[in-house]
Amino acid sequence: MPRCTVIANWKMHGTQTQARDLARAVRRLVGNRFRAAEVVLAPPFTSLETVRRALAGSRLRLAAQNLYWQPHGAFTGEVSADMLRDAGCSHVIVGHSERRRLFGETNRDVGRKLGAALEASLKPILCVGETLEERRRGDTHRTLSAQLTGALKGVPKSVIESLTVAYEPVWAIGTGRHATPAQVAETHGWIRRALARRFGTASGRAIPIVYGGSVNPDNAAELARVTEVDGVLVGGASLDHQSFAAIVKVFSTEFSTATGKTRTTDK
Ligand code: PGA
Repeated sequence: MPRCTVIANWKMHGTQTQARDLARAVRRLVGNRFRAAEVVLAPPFTSLETVRRALAGSRLRLAAQNLYWQPHGAFTGEVSADMLRDAGCSHVIVGHSERRRLFGETNRDVGRKLGAALEASLKPILCVGETLEERRRGDTHRTLSAQLTGALKGVPKSVIESLTVAYEPVWAIGTGRHATPAQVAETHGWIRRALARRFGTASGRAIPIVYGGSVNPDNAAELARVTEVDGVLVGGASLDHQSFAAIVKVFSTEFSTATGKTRTTDK
């Protein structure tokens, strides 16, 4: 049983050939090793099938970076949850800050997407996080609260075992400036308590909370040791198979050693 999750978000990068080569390289490096980590790759839509084939028969999982909440219809340019299931996805990223900031996704939209994903038995990776301005103003918890409430409203307790929350401070994404272990510990702890209030202590505790924002092989170990960090969502560093595999190795090692960290569900 994997005890932590390491997700590669390739964003809008790569042709199908590049995606195939990268997926094969990751599979070669992590395929049968580092089993304490669940490994999920999220290529662009156009490479989902290519990557699905490259990962077939392995334990690596496939994710989409976005979805639309309607099942089908006249929604030019959109892709539904069932279509993603059909394309071989087990997971889908929902509410990434780039979607919110550049494409105007609201908390309500994110909630609908999350609901559609759960209904289709896709595992949603729900991204939340504050801007630098919100952190400076002392509004981090207020922002996270609105994002969590908006997304989780109406979500029944029975389906939350497939949910992962990704704490991704906007100011740490793609900036080379990751949140400090103290900031991550404080914020993950706050999210954990919010989830426990929403779903009850046991269920709230079982939801993995991963960190995202400038994760790389050099900072992975200090992040992996933080209480309440159950994995990472990796952008830039996931485009290099060696960097990504190094991060997977760090997390798997941290979570598998006898003296190492136990995941939330084990506590
Ligand atoms: P980054 O991106 O690792 O390049 O900062 C993380 C993300 O946006 O998920």
